[in-house]
Amino acid sequence: MAKTAELILDGKTYKLPVVEGTENEVALDISNLLEETGAITLDFGYKNTGATKSAITFLDGDKGILRYRGYSIEDLAAHSSFLEVAYLLIFGELPTTDQLGKFSGDIKRHTMVHEDIKKILDGFPSTSHPMGVLASLFCAQTAFYPESLDPNRSAEGVYLSIVRSLAKMPTFAAWAYKNAVGHPVNYPDNSLEYCSRFLKMLYALPAEQYEVDPVVADALDKLLILHADHEQNCSTSTVRIVGSSKASIYSSISAGINALWGPLHGGANQEVILMLEAIKKDGGDTEKWINKAKDKNSGFRLMGFGHRVYKNFDPRAKIIKKAADDVLNKLGVNDPVLEIAMKLEEVALRDPYFIERKLYPNVDFYSGIIYRALGIPVDMFTVMFAMGRLPGWIAQWKELRENKEPIGRPRQIYVGQQLRDYVPINKR
Ligand code: CMC
Repeated sequence: MAKTAELILDGKTYKLPVVEGTENEVALDISNLLEETGAITLDFGYKNTGATKSAITFLDGDKGILRYRGYSIEDLAAHSSFLEVAYLLIFGELPTTDQLGKFSGDIKRHTMVHEDIKKILDGFPSTSHPMGVLASLFCAQTAFYPESLDPNRSAEGVYLSIVRSLAKMPTFAAWAYKNAVGHPVNYPDNSLEYCSRFLKMLYALPAEQYEVDPVVADALDKLLILHADHEQNCSTSTVRIVGSSKASIYSSISAGINALWGPLHGGANQEVILMLEAIKKDGGDTEKWINKAKDKNSGFRLMGFGHRVYKNFDPRAKIIKKAADDVLNKLGVNDPVLEIAMKLEEVALRDPYFIERKLYPNVDFYSGIIYRALGIPVDMFTVMFAMGRLPGWIAQWKELRENKEPIGRPRQIYVGQQLRDYVPINKR
């Protein structure tokens, strides 16, 4: 028999259907609540609100589990590649050799961007943060591919937009950086694979020979896998809500890039390094900074600590911590900031404030350290996160569309003034 929950409001009992997921997650279906009771639910930050049913990513914050389409993040990070994971997320199954070959071939065919994109890029001052440039260039694709605006686009048309998104992302990302440093842009070298192609566009200078270091390319590929999806987080929910208005894939993803930019979300990886550098400059007294983070009046938070859903450990942080050690060893990097990070982690993990609030290092605590070791500029850290998250955003946008979900439109409890008479300005 279908389970129900009971809600008593003003002495009257209402039955709410109970929905269970494949991993036994439980939800109370309140879709008819307003109609039946006249009441809505109130949930700041949507901490307890399920906005959709999704078959893409499973996450158990208490147990530290993260799976894409049923495959554990540990397995995927150890054995898969970013494009294979992208295919899995977007199309639901691991690809065969032929399917992956076609997918990556299709992506290679679309790595070039329209030359007029350079004119748009030229309009940005070199002080522009690469995330703002990336979001703008991504959205500009609606102008170059106006057919993408058609909400009833065929499956082939949607596939083309997906391929174009994945293909052009590294080009836009590298160009956003070149704009910031005032260097000429590099065109994609399609003899290289996804991450190597990006690295060459990012680093190569016309006057110098550039060879991609395979250690750097492999580490980047793993980082992108770890960031590829994370179910209904701030940027993904943004992509879904924008997409729910039947906005194009490019504008939906552009909105996701903007949501990711904030320091409480993807922007945290940049903030972590800035924080570690500030601690180093201040003499390396980690206790002092921990105390500052505990002082609510300081307005300071320990960046890279805490997570909305992981209250035990972040499985991505575990993998990244090990990858950071490997990369630093292989590249022979001895970063004094890493020592501060380790000290900070050690002090925070035995401090009752952090223990009681279940605040552990998250993915961003270590990703910044690896990006730094790989030579990625600090302003580009969040752009790297966006590159990784792209397949997740695409998969979620596609799922929303295929499930024909309604437009997203939360309610509110109004707490403002009641009706009052307008007073002319000369009588106020
Ligand atoms: N440093 C100090 N105190 C913290 C921190 C922190 N990093 N994070 C949370 N707290 C405290 C917070 O002040 C609150 O204390 P109290 O109960 O006394 O008022 C308590 O812990 C719960 O915090 P919250 O803000 O209600 O928790 P949340 O689930 O709304 O926020 C978070 C999650 C990630 C925004 C938050 O932990 C944070 O701001 N962390 C720092 C930024 C960061 O590293 N973000 C990256 C997240 S992982 C990448 C991604 O997926 O975006």
